Amino acid sequence: MKILVINGPNLNMLGKREESIYGEKTLGEIDALLKKEAQALNVEVVTFQSNHEGALIDFIQKQADSAHGIIINPGALTHYGLSLLDALSDTKLPVIEVHLSDIYHREEWRAMSVIAPIAEGQISGWGWRGYITALQVLVGKLKEEA
Ligand code: DQA
Repeated sequence: MKILVINGPNLNMLGKREESIYGEKTLGEIDALLKKEAQALNVEVVTFQSNHEGALIDFIQKQADSAHGIIINPGALTHYGLSLLDALSDTKLPVIEVHLSDIYHREEWRAMSVIAPIAEGQISGWGWRGYITALQVLVGKLKEEA
């Protein structure tokens, strides 16, 4: 079973970027924790980050046929990334949206996600643990359905 874990713009700066909001772990550290959890769950995780919406879409289109689910933190594309939304929707794969911060208790514009309507679920405000929980929930559900 293969799960794509995708991070959008500015998430390559984790660890240096507003640590009080996004935490101190780097994206590399989070990806390593995800890979460890994936090993325990006996699934494969493929990680990808880009600051460019088109590159995220290219990755999704290339990987979707061989993947079983997607975990994505779209960064600010959450709030306006309609091409990303279409690409995710076209895969027909289950998508879980993750946010490190609680997007409902920050600036008003962050509370609106264009991705949420096609996501099976959203985890917001639990820091790096949100990614691990998303993986556990998604894999648990996929295994149940298999
Ligand atoms: C974020 C929240 C977004 O509003 C923001 O633009 C990000 C990160 C989060 O993980 O909390 O880049 O998706």
